[in-house]
Amino acid sequence: KMPENGKVTWKAPSNIALVKYWGKRPVQIPANPSISFTLDSCATTTSVAFEKKDAIDGFSFDLLFEGQPKEDFKPKIRTFLERIEKYVPFLKEYHFTIETSNSFPHSSGIASSASGMAALSMCLMDIEKQLNPIIDESLFHAKASYLARLGSGSACRSIKGNLVQWGAHENIPNSSDLYGIEYPFEINPVFKSYCDTILLVHKGQKQVSSTVGHQLMHGHPYAENRFQQAFDNLDKLKTILAEGNLEEFIKLVESEALTLHAMMMTSMPYFILMKPDTLEIINKIWEYREATKTPVCFTLDAGANVHLLYPSSVKENVLDFIKDELAEHCENGQYIHDQVGSGTIKI
Ligand code: PMV
Repeated sequence: KMPENGKVTWKAPSNIALVKYWGKRPVQIPANPSISFTLDSCATTTSVAFEKKDAIDGFSFDLLFEGQPKEDFKPKIRTFLERIEKYVPFLKEYHFTIETSNSFPHSSGIASSASGMAALSMCLMDIEKQLNPIIDESLFHAKASYLARLGSGSACRSIKGNLVQWGAHENIPNSSDLYGIEYPFEINPVFKSYCDTILLVHKGQKQVSSTVGHQLMHGHPYAENRFQQAFDNLDKLKTILAEGNLEEFIKLVESEALTLHAMMMTSMPYFILMKPDTLEIINKIWEYREATKTPVCFTLDAGANVHLLYPSSVKENVLDFIKDELAEHCENGQYIHDQVGSGTIKI
């Protein structure tokens, strides 16, 4: 029997892809598999209070973002609830009050859709568990990831920790297009404490949303080669991650980032999300790496910000490098330090 009311709270981190997801078919099925580091401090905390309603008519919810009512997020949440209703049938029986806040500054250009949808999915699964307490932990996580995927594709990689793989791949056991899994192979300890410093190059709204970007992979002249490359890169990464081969890791990760943006530049219509400072930073990273042999590399999301990835053993030097050379290319000199983390937690 379902409780009359209650409240659950979950915190979910953001993630940064090493092999990128770009291109999909309905409903949120990726055109190619991807893999990401789960982050730690860049996170969304969401609580869902629920209260039984008398009439089971439609969805009923209030939304608060950083303490304030947030009307413009509501359509996205409503679409999400409509999509997942058949998997969590209690949704119309309650009025929900959803309160959400991010650890990173508002409109910093860091997408909160992955962490936000992951946190909300964990909350809904937690409520479902009160209805069906026998659901075991691995099913709980898989289903939360499945729901999160329906909110925002890459969100399915934010449920669990360290390295998460999403998308069916013949050489990766238990991989699925429907949800993310913890990377099932051995990884060198160097990757378990990897750092990611996010350089905030441009905090404004992107000109092209990732929804539109994914769509433009349909009929894209290089799509099939790109999708095949992502499959191949996941094969290559298996050895790289096991051996801790940083030289090969850097090549693969930077190539993935530039390929993602190359797809944007060669779609029709074409577009560019990098900014002049994005390129300045990339060039400085290459110069620094050449001069100091420090294993630091960059990756990019669908935006102008640069993620600097490096082992924790070189953190002090890299932080000096950022302060001395890269901060001047960031909007208001802002950057955020993060590292690999272990996924969602109940608050
Ligand atoms: O999850 P979406 O639909 O916002 O797509 C995100 C795609 C990239 O961030 C560019 C790559 C990725 O795999 O995270």
